[in-house]
Amino acid sequence: MSHENSTLLPAVRSFLSAPKQLLIGGEWVDAKDGRTFATVNPSTEEVLVQVAHASAVDVDRAVVAARTAFESPSPWSKMTPRERSHLLWRIGDLIDAHAEEFAQLEALDNGKRVEAARDGDVAISAELFRYFAGWATKMEGTSIPMSVPGREFHAYTRREPVGVVAGIVPWNFPLLMACFKIVPAITAGNTVILKPAEQTPLTALRLGELLLEAGVPAGVVNILPGFGDTGAALVDHHGVDKVAFTGSTEVGKKIAAAASGNLKKVSLELGGKAPNIIFNDADIDAAIAGAVLGGYFNEGQCCVNGSRLYVQRGVFDQVVEGVAAAARAIRVGDGFDPASHMGPLVSKEQHEKVLGYIRGAVAEGAVLNAGSADAVGDRGFFVAPTLITSVNEQMAVQTDEIFGPVVTAIPFDTEDEVVAAANNTVYGLAAGVWSQNIGTAHRVGARLRAGTVWLNTWHADDVTLPRGGFKQSGWGRELGSFGLDDYTELKTVIAELR
Ligand code: NAI
Ligand code: MG
Repeated sequence: MSHENSTLLPAVRSFLSAPKQLLIGGEWVDAKDGRTFATVNPSTEEVLVQVAHASAVDVDRAVVAARTAFESPSPWSKMTPRERSHLLWRIGDLIDAHAEEFAQLEALDNGKRVEAARDGDVAISAELFRYFAGWATKMEGTSIPMSVPGREFHAYTRREPVGVVAGIVPWNFPLLMACFKIVPAITAGNTVILKPAEQTPLTALRLGELLLEAGVPAGVVNILPGFGDTGAALVDHHGVDKVAFTGSTEVGKKIAAAASGNLKKVSLELGGKAPNIIFNDADIDAAIAGAVLGGYFNEGQCCVNGSRLYVQRGVFDQVVEGVAAAARAIRVGDGFDPASHMGPLVSKEQHEKVLGYIRGAVAEGAVLNAGSADAVGDRGFFVAPTLITSVNEQMAVQTDEIFGPVVTAIPFDTEDEVVAAANNTVYGLAAGVWSQNIGTAHRVGARLRAGTVWLNTWHADDVTLPRGGFKQSGWGRELGSFGLDDYTELKTVIAELR
């Protein structure tokens, strides 16, 4: 590693000092065909380390390991719910004990600020283990009366694990997304094969080490870094019982089609293009702050970001000026520099894609109130937070999920008009309303077709809350008590009392 960063912890340097391998059946192994790929620091464009690239053969090996770990009488199948609960809690505490290390690795691999990774991604990952530790002992069924004349029955339901779960995750919250898949799956007694994103495999691999240290039995969690080919091999595999995917709507559709071979269960958390609606009667300072957070959080690489601002005409100029001023004040720089407010985008591909959207909008006559269609700096994948006005509903910048720090603002006059515009999208992940009139806020919130609606706030969140998408933003819900439904099969047992 040619990284000259002097703040790196010895544990991080040591982790990066050797090529990373696959985790299969509790062992760290090379890919069968020896393939590797480089993972890059998006702030410096330097290679961090080489990582094994799993192929279909490695997927076969991992499926065997996961199946063996799942089937009775494996140690995992015999573990009591209470033991599983304690194990989950222990992992949460281990993550906390290594928080700075995870935060540094995430900042190196993804680009985000160390502090943002530590206080957000890493802290929430640890909390996720502790939250679900509580559910492990509460996977209850019900007893249900039957009415068959002259005969007596005892009927009840059991919630059983689905089996081998493949988790395929993106690069925007690498550790957290890995935990979103692993934690509910193992809480319910499944075994897992996780495929991290090719841009950001490192924190999932470090988590794999901690899972073994905590005492997760061999084969319960397997980790296969790789590209789309690795993900596709998992989705095609008839030994996989369920796929849980977070990523683009385009790949989500491919997964839904490919999963039909053995009709594996599929849950999908896909793209978004969230409308953020500000009425004349909003608390304007709070709404501006919310629009800035909602637009630029995580370098804009967040599926629930409020990328489409709709502002009622009476406050349009005031809101645009406020958001533009705040955007211009955001300092973009290396995630390790304490002076940075925002890091780079994750990859060269994403950098080019986002700048392309801004250029396209300018070419079509849009106005940049903040930001630029040019890269920031000559090294690293930096983009300035951008606010665009004079856009119409047909422009690509308004219809497509951009996944960068790009917000558009459009004025509106009436509630009906803005609800129609807000819902005029294939996506339905998140939406928000700012109004001090509680009638307006709740009524408009109810009319918005989205899985999460924020009223007078944005990004307020907890591991206790279910999340997921309406329309083409996905299938199923993650987290909260609902988050276990997709990881369990419901069995109905009918006994005749003779
Ligand atoms: P992607 O959807 O291609 O990648 C997500 C994951 O799926 C990665 O682990 C990838 O290796 C895997 N994958 C790719 N092709 C696959 C296939 N055929 N079968 C199974 N797994 C496959 O997302 P990508 O290319 O990184 O980003 C493209 C755009 O997708 C972004 O610009 C953004 O608009 C959107 N995106 C949305 C996310 C969200 O959370 N809503 C997250 C990441 C990207
Ligand atoms: Mg892709």
